[in-house]
Amino acid sequence: MCGIFAYTGKKKNSAKLVIEGLKRLEYRGYDSWGIAYKSGKDIHIHKEVGKIGEFKIEGSKFDPSNIAIGETQDTQVAIGHSRWATHGGVNEKNAHPHFTEDKDIVLVHNGILENYKELKTYLQKRGHKFISKTDTEVIAHLIEEHAQNHNFEEAARLAMQEMEGRYAIVVINKQNNQIVAARKGSPLIIGVGEKEFYIASDIPAFLPYTNKVIYLDDYQIANINEGKIKFYDTQKREEVEKRIIEIDWDEESAEKGEFPHFMIKEIMEQKDSLSRAINQDPSIIEKVAKEIRSAGSIYLTGCGTAGKVAMVAQYLFGEVSKLQSHFYFGSEFLSQAGFLNKKSIVIAISQSGETADTMEALEMAKEKGAKIVSIVNVENSSMARISDFVIPIKAGPEKAVASTKATSSQLAILTLLAYAMDGGIIIGKQLLINTTSQINDMVNPRYEDHIMKIAKKIKDIESMYIIGRGKNYPIALESAIKLQEVSYIHAEGFAGGELKHGPIALISQGTPVIALVSNDQHKKDILSNSIEIKSRGGFIIGIAPENDEAFDFWIRVPDTGETSPIVNIIPVQILAYQLAVLRKNNPDMPRNLAKSVTVK
Ligand code: AGP
Ligand code: GLU
Repeated sequence: MCGIFAYTGKKKNSAKLVIEGLKRLEYRGYDSWGIAYKSGKDIHIHKEVGKIGEFKIEGSKFDPSNIAIGETQDTQVAIGHSRWATHGGVNEKNAHPHFTEDKDIVLVHNGILENYKELKTYLQKRGHKFISKTDTEVIAHLIEEHAQNHNFEEAARLAMQEMEGRYAIVVINKQNNQIVAARKGSPLIIGVGEKEFYIASDIPAFLPYTNKVIYLDDYQIANINEGKIKFYDTQKREEVEKRIIEIDWDEESAEKGEFPHFMIKEIMEQKDSLSRAINQDPSIIEKVAKEIRSAGSIYLTGCGTAGKVAMVAQYLFGEVSKLQSHFYFGSEFLSQAGFLNKKSIVIAISQSGETADTMEALEMAKEKGAKIVSIVNVENSSMARISDFVIPIKAGPEKAVASTKATSSQLAILTLLAYAMDGGIIIGKQLLINTTSQINDMVNPRYEDHIMKIAKKIKDIESMYIIGRGKNYPIALESAIKLQEVSYIHAEGFAGGELKHGPIALISQGTPVIALVSNDQHKKDILSNSIEIKSRGGFIIGIAPENDEAFDFWIRVPDTGETSPIVNIIPVQILAYQLAVLRKNNPDMPRNLAKSVTVK
């Protein structure tokens, strides 16, 4: 959730730099923002509720000497934060950065300090005064408390030992322009420039300046002072060396280009992203396939869209590899603890690799000795780092909150895995190459125009439903998420056969129902479910390789067999996007949502 961006170096315009960095993190979702920068001897703090959007530093109250372009002799420090409120309402006081009385310690925080109440009571008794209702402010005071008897880094370290929960923090020490950054369970990445450092919750924030990164690990502290960086591991209680990694994301791949929104850009990119997923070195997929085959029990996990992809995998493993597997959402995984052991294998699916619920499932599985596989887009993410095997999906940066290209790439990898477990990765790859080439017919303006006809027709409806069977049942559930999160229309997905056991009562004259059809053993049944709905007044939007009398509106998809989940979700992604735009919603930043859900 939220965004952290900090800078320390000799660039004069550090405040401006931080604001631009926060803008690049806007996609993560937030409700308020703020920055702090040092100018002369003072720390200046500026906070606002709402979007950074068009905020222009020129003409604002910011110190002009800080925003001027150029280099300076003095080290500049600036930190910024976009907040997704968890503790305390959305207002300026609660927005970050938080600080101690004389602004000696200024801090931004992502995550939740779970034991903030106890710590706050203790600190209040020690005379600390609080301005906000946040858990975050407690951390600043806790560090200040320890700083009475210890140096700044040691104070931060001692504070960390008392902090419970998942967090990433960046703290400025006003006295000497030092910055300390630490993490436990929330991402924090350091961009390394020429005697300057950027600290951010995601790489795209500093991509225009550097592609050299250092991934901070849990329980590690980075201490940046006078152009030098040092790392300390609070568990090992020793200094650690960290590797600088050069990443191959370019700035362009993280920008909108000619598209009005990231969501449609990412939908349209799917031919390329899928090709990258399937054309990677097959050896890791074959190795993982072997591990899964020899496991005593197989578990799949993920949240939201990634959870729905995991459900599709359950069908693929059953039908293609003839293997039984169990799926649970990350947040529901705990109840499986009793069944996990050294022979189990747990496969996690996640775009960000940082989702707290999935992470917690993996941590629990690791404790039980289970092997862990993660299928992630962010290759050095927390999930990747605690896994025994990592399969990257190579989708490139996905910035829209609604997952689209990562979804199809995850589906592709799981299809390859299912075929590899059956000894036929080549067959799987051929199938996917064929699918990818047919996607050309879908990611083009003509296809969009056709879908726009139905989007215009249903844009004002209150509810809609999606049905599917077999592998397309989880895709019906995923379709509902897509429609809900960006169009805000009430949408629900059902297994086609389940409708007549209750939900069919919801159908009245004109209720739109999307039927996901493919040429498989479920075709006849899903079409008869469609007729049942149509007979009760429902308006059937058929997503299918062929038209049918059951459909009131037909969206053609290529006939790709086992990969029908990939082709069937694309028109729904386009429809959801168009509905969002027609209903004047921002598809890239849906209300109440964040790109990476790092809180429970
Ligand atoms: C996708 O459209 C959603 N925004 C959401 O359900 C997402 O898939 C979920 O939060 C999991 O995220 P992850 O893939 O980064 O773990
Ligand atoms: N828990 C903190 C707050 O409510 C941080 C939330 C965030 O991650 O943005 O202010």
